[in-house]
Amino acid sequence: MPEAMTETSQPLLSVRDLHVEFVGRNRTVRAVRGLSYEIRAGETLAIVGESGSGKSVSALTLLGLLPPRTSRVPRGSVIFEGQELIGLSTAQLSRIRGARIAMIFQDALSSLNPVLTIERQITEALETHTDLTSSQAHARALELLQLVGIPDAERRLKEYPHQYSGGMRQRAMIAIALSCQPSLLIADEPTTALDVTIQAQILSLIARLRSELGMAVLLITHDLGTVAGLADRIAVMYAGRIVETGPTESVLADPAHPYTSGLLRSLPRLDDPRGMTLRPIEGTPPDLATDLPGCPFAPRCMWREEVCWADDPRLLPVREAESGRSIACHHHPTAEEARAGRSLVPGFRPADPPAAVAEKIAVVVPVEAAS
Ligand SMILES: Nc1ncnc2c1ncn2[C@@H]1O[C@H](COP(=O)(O)OP(=O)(O)O)[C@@H](O)[C@H]1O
Ligand code: SF4
Ligand SMILES: [Mg+2]
Repeated sequence: MPEAMTETSQPLLSVRDLHVEFVGRNRTVRAVRGLSYEIRAGETLAIVGESGSGKSVSALTLLGLLPPRTSRVPRGSVIFEGQELIGLSTAQLSRIRGARIAMIFQDALSSLNPVLTIERQITEALETHTDLTSSQAHARALELLQLVGIPDAERRLKEYPHQYSGGMRQRAMIAIALSCQPSLLIADEPTTALDVTIQAQILSLIARLRSELGMAVLLITHDLGTVAGLADRIAVMYAGRIVETGPTESVLADPAHPYTSGLLRSLPRLDDPRGMTLRPIEGTPPDLATDLPGCPFAPRCMWREEVCWADDPRLLPVREAESGRSIACHHHPTAEEARAGRSLVPGFRPADPPAAVAEKIAVVVPVEAAS
């Protein structure tokens, strides 16, 4: 058993108040704005949020994979297996990358090397991080391909990525990621490019591997629909930070933050009356190159009060103390309101934006929709 999987009170990964910026000629994009979360050994955490919320940037930061000249981490800490990763040199990070933390992406075709066989790509990772002989590395590559469910693995090892289907390439990328038995697998939108049946197969493969190998998984997705049954906990990300976190089933059954409730209402549901149209969250995420003085979700929120325009809410416990639930919200909906998608207090209307804010926001939620 790898040492990170032994029982310990320390989380495997602890991200604290992480900030990441991209500095351009005329503007600085503050893509990650005070992100904090933890993952315990063997646990699966799903980070969920709309496109552009900073999910990938935060994951790439852990591995030191951001463009060095245009990005910076002005604040924050990332402790993995007891070691601070922020500030490590490229050489130090590359020893951790692939060996202790592995990452898989949406697009297997661009992550795999088109001119090397799948076997060579697996054994290359093994040669970099282990001292296996070449025949041991071959045996391990075969075992890994079988582990990820590729039939006729001995023959398939000799093939190139273009000879694999989309789902098989994703499996091969997972095999490479697993080659050195990482204690943390980061899966960034691992099924977004695949059709629905293959998506389900890859997600159940990740679930099986995580329980067989005991590794932790950080699953990044824009699709709340894919996390049920796979993630132990969810962290919902908006505008560069977490706005709600808690055990998956509890958050999905009873969302406490207006944004989570909106995400859930925008999902197709089997129990919806036939023909019912989906209700996407109105408006768009904020421009991350601007200052966001109050709650970043305020322009889209049906529950906002005056305070929300000026005061950025902190992530604090909600529901019962032992529920493990936290949200960042000044005026969160009741369970009934979250289901209805609006305040049920008679006469309540979301506070109008101050003039300076009104000018900035492109789409304001229509007030009459809330009354
Ligand atoms: N290399 C980069 N240079 C400048 N801005 C970037 C870069 N990568 C990402 N961003 C910006 O950072 C924000 C967060 O992006 P990302 O983490 O990719 O979002 P997500 O994965 O949640 O869809 C976006 O506004 C995106 O445009
Ligand atoms: S109620 Fe206020 S703090 Fe909560 S999400 Fe809406 S705007 Fe943000
Ligand atoms: Mg992304």
